[in-house]
Amino acid sequence: MTYLWLKAGHIIFVIFWMAGLFMLPRLFVYHQETAPGSPENALWVERERKLLRIILTPALIATWGFGLALVVTIDAWDEGWLHAKLLLVLVLSGYHGWCAGYARKLAAGKRSLSGRTLRLVNEVPGLGVALIVVLVVVKPF
Ligand code: HEM
Repeated sequence: MTYLWLKAGHIIFVIFWMAGLFMLPRLFVYHQETAPGSPENALWVERERKLLRIILTPALIATWGFGLALVVTIDAWDEGWLHAKLLLVLVLSGYHGWCAGYARKLAAGKRSLSGRTLRLVNEVPGLGVALIVVLVVVKPF
């Protein structure tokens, strides 16, 4: 039963983390359409900060926590699919870090990427999720 409760917890926080990773760059796009220094600009800064603090970062930590507990429970350390999965999850965790950094830049008034580039960047988690789920469900190697 422990294994099933751990997996349930893992998938719940994976969903929260992915939802936040899909949402945040979209908020950046709308944010950058407001006038710098305007009241609307300040509203987006607050929304991005809350999304990171209340949803994204706790979900990242819980996904890793439940995920590593699952690795211990099923003793999957030597599994090829897990190694490939962890590599992709590290890329997603790096992407999370990049998003947090870009939110800080926007809060400081720096808008270094165009809306078009931000929309392209938003495809990263989608591709990551597809590859990760295939690895963990199909376990091709
Ligand atoms: C953060 C580090 C992560 C670790 C250490 C980890 C590890 C694991 C392990 C050991 C399992 C159990 C596999 C099994 O029961 O055969 C599992 C299940 C699962 N993981 Fe992760 N995972 C992580 C992140 C993620 C992420 C980011 C996603 C999705 C984007 C994800 C999606 C899933 C899914 C869908 C399952 C259920 C698979 C099934 O029931 O067959 N995991 N994970």
